[in-house]
Amino acid sequence: MNKQVKSKIMLLIMISFVLFLAACSSGSTGGEASSNGNKGGGNSGEKLVIGFSQVGAESEWRTANTESVKKAITDAGHELKFSDAQQKQENQIKAIRSFIAQKVDAIVFSPVVETGFETVLKEAKTAGIPVFLADRAVDIEDDSLWVTFLGSDFVEEGRKAANWLIEEMEDVDGEVNIVELQGTVGSAPAIDRKEGFEEVMADHPNFKIIKSQSGDFTRAKGKEVMEAFLKSDGDNIDVLYSHNDDMAIGAIQAIEEYGLKPGEDIKIIGVDAVKGAFEAMAAGKMNVTVECNPLFGPQLVDLIEAHISGEKLEKRISVEESIYTMDQAEELLPTRKY
Ligand code: AHR
Repeated sequence: MNKQVKSKIMLLIMISFVLFLAACSSGSTGGEASSNGNKGGGNSGEKLVIGFSQVGAESEWRTANTESVKKAITDAGHELKFSDAQQKQENQIKAIRSFIAQKVDAIVFSPVVETGFETVLKEAKTAGIPVFLADRAVDIEDDSLWVTFLGSDFVEEGRKAANWLIEEMEDVDGEVNIVELQGTVGSAPAIDRKEGFEEVMADHPNFKIIKSQSGDFTRAKGKEVMEAFLKSDGDNIDVLYSHNDDMAIGAIQAIEEYGLKPGEDIKIIGVDAVKGAFEAMAAGKMNVTVECNPLFGPQLVDLIEAHISGEKLEKRISVEESIYTMDQAEELLPTRKY
């Protein structure tokens, strides 16, 4: 082979290699890879502007969720516009209208309550902006107003809490008195966790919910409402079912101040599986927590990118979850990510 032929072959090899690299990196905007391996904008390679209207900062769970979603959006190379509604529906409506005015590419929305968003979601649809419901659902007939819902099955969480209790107290003769701390009035997790719990309890008439009130998903309110429960029903309370761990942690404080032992005199059931609940369980003050996983940011970004790339998505996508008891707490605490 003479020198000229050799250098032509080398040139061809180099061109093929460059073309191969270009094909591999198509779709890249220079952002960090998301969990499906795509970079910004999915297959389209587009850098997206994403508006995220969050409920607030009412709980440990919410803080972890905000962090997860924000990080996944920016890590994927997209631009984030964030708005904290401070648990107020009017703030969310304003935020969504402002995202529409700014012509964002997609809106992520975790509705504080289930109803009252129809008009603003229609405005987003008219503007051609896809809406992704994250964590909480809306109660609206027309499901063309959002692309998909990604979050937990709150009814199932309520069932899991109830089933644990039935099993734990199956040998108890007589009545079991339960007090319930509900989440934010009108919110999907408060409505559904109550429904799931009551559905199971319906077959066990000796288990009675003697008091039920909202603690708005916060520690301070959980403590305040538990104090009122203890004042009126004191030593008659066997179980606290709290719609989240933060309220349960507030209630534990109230129970101790009242002079009873949480976890022993009163069984404590929470939802979320945040670190604070594992600490309380490791200290013997809380019995069980039903997992509600907030770390779905990367999965959410994958869904947005898939939709922008023209993929058809399921209307409801559930996050897989577990349940954790007091005896597992010490071992699992160091591994908890939120
Ligand atoms: O919507 C999820 C719920 O909202 C979490 O269980 C609770 O802690 C949060 O505030």
